[in-house]
Amino acid sequence: MPKQIVISELGGPEVLKYQNYDLPSNIKNNEVRIKHTAIGLNYIDTYHRSGIYPLPSTLPVCPGLEAAGEVVDIGVNVKAFKIGDRVAYASPPMGAYCDIRDFPENKLINIPNFLKNDDVASILLQGMTVEYLFERLYKIQKNEFILFHAAAGGVGLVASQWAKSIGCKMIGTVSTKEKGELAKEHGCEYIINYKEENVSKKVMEITNNEGVQVVYDGVGRDTFLESINSLSVRGLLVSLGQSSGMVDKLDLHQIFNPKSLFYTRPNLMNYTLNNEELKECSNKLFEKMRIGEIKSNIFKKIKLEEAQKAHEILQSRKSFGSIILEP
Ligand SMILES: NC(=O)c1ccc[n+]([C@@H]2O[C@H](COP(=O)([O-])OP(=O)(O)OC[C@H]3O[C@@H](n4cnc5c(N)ncnc54)[C@H](OP(=O)(O)O)[C@@H]3O)[C@@H](O)[C@H]2O)c1
Repeated sequence: MPKQIVISELGGPEVLKYQNYDLPSNIKNNEVRIKHTAIGLNYIDTYHRSGIYPLPSTLPVCPGLEAAGEVVDIGVNVKAFKIGDRVAYASPPMGAYCDIRDFPENKLINIPNFLKNDDVASILLQGMTVEYLFERLYKIQKNEFILFHAAAGGVGLVASQWAKSIGCKMIGTVSTKEKGELAKEHGCEYIINYKEENVSKKVMEITNNEGVQVVYDGVGRDTFLESINSLSVRGLLVSLGQSSGMVDKLDLHQIFNPKSLFYTRPNLMNYTLNNEELKECSNKLFEKMRIGEIKSNIFKKIKLEEAQKAHEILQSRKSFGSIILEP
């Protein structure tokens, strides 16, 4: 019988329970049945588990938005995939933390021959995120300084490599010396340890008192004000997440008016709105992987049944790069 992780109540990692489940006997016409070989763990999974982000349906639910695997059956209208194909996804509908599931054809992509399923499951969501952040939301430039928080995390290590490939001078924040060294090895040009140093003061030193035109902030509460202080006039704060917690209520005038700043709170789903955008976005990532500019960074492979442990590691700031779950 297949197994899945289920959340029946919101809370800490302990609410993730490993259970049997029944697959539907019929596949929907436009869906593909995928036997997972690797499941991507993302910070957003912890927001869903704890209730920081609303769940798409009532409890109980199977969490997870990213996985890779093999097509084992297809619905009658499916055209783009066949049994035996290697495929991956990084989007709703939620429910990736399981052995086998049905998934809509139009949100699925083929895995290129030169990539392994594990690598794709570890990087697809984080890598496509960096694609839209650096190539479409704000186009980073050669020799430009940018500030990126948590530079040794899953998204952070892809960002370090992507920035380097463009010649952009990324200033990355980290909490330990070891994480700083890793981000540097991946192409992050300047490192700030935000546990020990004042971020905006250091950014001003590096940028000759100009500040940066864009800050990418996935840490949230603990970094928000320093992100604002690091921006130049008419700069853009890209608030992509909140691993340290939600940003407190703000006086918008006081925060944004003095430097005429811009603010955006984007998500990947709005930058992969249809099958065409999804393919363009994933192909740009895969091409960078093919030519060796971006590599996956699997920090740990953890059994699906130990999803609790995986969430604990991610939230305790002990991980570097990405974690994948093995069904
Ligand atoms: N908007 C989007 O489209 C989108 C898509 C993907 C991810 N994201 C966001 O991007 C961020 C990074 O995601 P990820 O999956 O790659 O995670 P991650 O960066 O691997 O893990 C989060 C990191 O945040 C840092 N952090 C700072 N304060 C923390 C705290 N109090 N508790 C826990 N961690 C803290 C830690 O790095 P240090 O130890 O170096 O501080 C930690 O390793 C998350 O906010 C996520 O939600 C957004």
